This record gives sequence, C-alpha cells and structure tokens, in this order.
Amino acid sequence: MDSLRIGFGEDAHGLVTGRRLVLGGFEIPLSPRGAAAHSDGDALLHALSDAMLSCFGLGDIGQYFPPSNPNYAGLDSQVILQTVQSRIHDAIGETTVVNVAAVVTLDRPKLGPHRLAIQRTLGELLGIEPGRVGLGFKTSEGLAPRHVQARVTVLMRVEAF
Ligand code: C5P
Ligand code: MG
Repeated sequence: MDSLRIGFGEDAHGLVTGRRLVLGGFEIPLSPRGAAAHSDGDALLHALSDAMLSCFGLGDIGQYFPPSNPNYAGLDSQVILQTVQSRIHDAIGETTVVNVAAVVTLDRPKLGPHRLAIQRTLGELLGIEPGRVGLGFKTSEGLAPRHVQARVTVLMRVEAF
C-alpha cells in the first residue's frame, strides 16, 4: 500500500442565535450565533473527519452518524473524529496525520484572534504540533451571512499494515 494518502472534506451549517459556535473542538468565545445542527455542529471537525475517511475510500461520516438518528442529538464532534480514527485503524492499521490544510468561511465573528487556539486544540486531537495545522479564514463577502463552511485537505501516512 502507498504510504502517503491525501484526503478532502467539506461541511456547512446554518447559523442561529442561542447555539455555541465550535470549530476544530474549540468553542469560539462570545459568538452571537452558533451552528444549527443535530450534533454540536463543528463544521471543521466534520470536514476533517470526512477528509480522513476519504484518504482510504471509507465513505463519509453520515454513514456512521446518520442525522436522522435521535441518539446523535447534541453529539460532541470529538466523538465523530474518534470513531473515524478507530474505523481507519480497523481498516488500515497504524496511521499518522502529516498535516492539515483548512479554510473556514464565516462572515462573523472574526476568527483570526482564535487561530492559534484552534490550531492547538485540533493538533492535540490529532497528535500533531500546531504548526502542522494550517488554518485560513475567509468571509463570504456578505453572500452567505448565516452560514459557516469548512473545507479541509489532509495528508496521512500509513505507518504499518
Ligand atoms: O474573506 P476576506 O479576504 O475578506 O478576509 C479578510 C481577513 O479576515 C483574512 O485575513 C481572514 O483571516 C480574516 N477573517 C477572520 N475571521 C473571519 C473571516 C475572515 O479573521 N470570520
Ligand atoms: Mg456538520
């Protein structure tokens, strides 16, 4: 098997008042709006999880966590990532994440002040240093003001199989 695999994932959620805004496992403090979702709506972790599955042709997170299943209401997206990590372990064996490159599109609030905190949180979840978590932020230029979207590429290495 090739030792390096690239993956890509995407996710989007609507934004509503009265919900937390969680990105990459990090809760954005004092956000006036958060993601409307069945789970905690962490679009960055959802896109990352899909990207990791795509490295190995293992489908997407909807297969493991159908939105129609009421048991998954309010689900912490870190559980989704952990499930993906163990699915990859079962199918492939030992793998490591080489680096992550992500873009989050969100008009407000500004995410720049939280870049390092998100890099650290995501790095800890993946077992890599923050410098391997590339994060770009973009506004939609007002075209999608009630919308948060994440796009993620990931490079993974198969260590043993
Ligand atoms: O999308 P745009 O090019 O207008 O973004 C300008 C800057 O604003 C970028 O440097 C980006 O990092 C930052 N930004 C941010 N938080 C957002 C959206 C953009 O810090 N929610
Ligand atoms: Mg999602």
